[in-house]
Amino acid sequence: MSCCGRGLKICLVVACILLLVIAVALVVLFLVVLKPKEPKITTKSVTLDRIQSAILPRPFLNLTLGLVVEVKNPNYGSFRYDDSNAYLVYRGDLVGVSPIPAGYQKARSTQTIRTNITLMAGEFLKDFEFYGDLLKGVLNFTSTSSLHGKASIFKVLKTEVSSNCTCEISVHVDSQKTESSCKTVVRH
Ligand SMILES: *[C@@H]1O[C@H](CO)[C@@H](O)[C@H](O)[C@H]1NC(C)=O
Ligand SMILES: *[C@@H]1O[C@H](CO)[C@@H](O)[C@H](O)[C@H]1NC(C)=O
Ligand SMILES: *[C@@H]1O[C@H](CO)[C@@H](O)[C@H](O)[C@H]1NC(C)=O
Ligand SMILES: *[C@@H]1O[C@H](CO)[C@@H](O)[C@H](O)[C@H]1NC(C)=O
Repeated sequence: MSCCGRGLKICLVVACILLLVIAVALVVLFLVVLKPKEPKITTKSVTLDRIQSAILPRPFLNLTLGLVVEVKNPNYGSFRYDDSNAYLVYRGDLVGVSPIPAGYQKARSTQTIRTNITLMAGEFLKDFEFYGDLLKGVLNFTSTSSLHGKASIFKVLKTEVSSNCTCEISVHVDSQKTESSCKTVVRH
């Protein structure tokens, strides 16, 4: 009886250890597979929606750029982001702001957000270099769009991320065309 009792105890201990090892392996697998990844914001296109310009009697420019921004959530959980803005900068001065409203994005999905930025006229015309650029017919802008938010999986695994996309934009005033090159930076 005592022999079988001991055998049973050893058996139980071995079974417990095995269960523990399996449990640890499952948790590790779970964390590796479901580990939150950074949602990513990418500017897909920059278009010139509207432009009015004049050099005389005084330099004048009124333009609206349309930005199409793609937000990609690679996670097995949702991504919730705060209110943010897209900014337009000309020769170091902020010349336009456009809101990107807070939102929510489902697991493993991609959405596109459209936003228009119109120049703040007053800011722009102070710049002397603006006159020269307008004469040459090419105006260079930088746009920055950023999202900040939380990606969560089963409300347990959470990660805070911010993703920025910066574009260098050249607007050709006469042909009314734009060229742009964009890059994305992600940070935890
Ligand atoms: C620029 O154009 C928009 C739309 O046509 C207009 O509402 C706005 O007043 C214009 N701005 C200037 C400074 O003319
Ligand atoms: C941006 O401008 C385009 C064309 O002018 C218009 O169709 C669109 O509704 C605007 N989008 C937003 C978000 O204001
Ligand atoms: C504007 O950008 C274009 C393309 O990046 C560049 O070739 C040009 O020199 C820039 N112009 C100015 C005035 O910075
Ligand atoms: C994104 O841009 C904002 C404002 O321009 C800045 O505060 C933030 O550090 C940037 N984040 C990254 C990841 O570059």
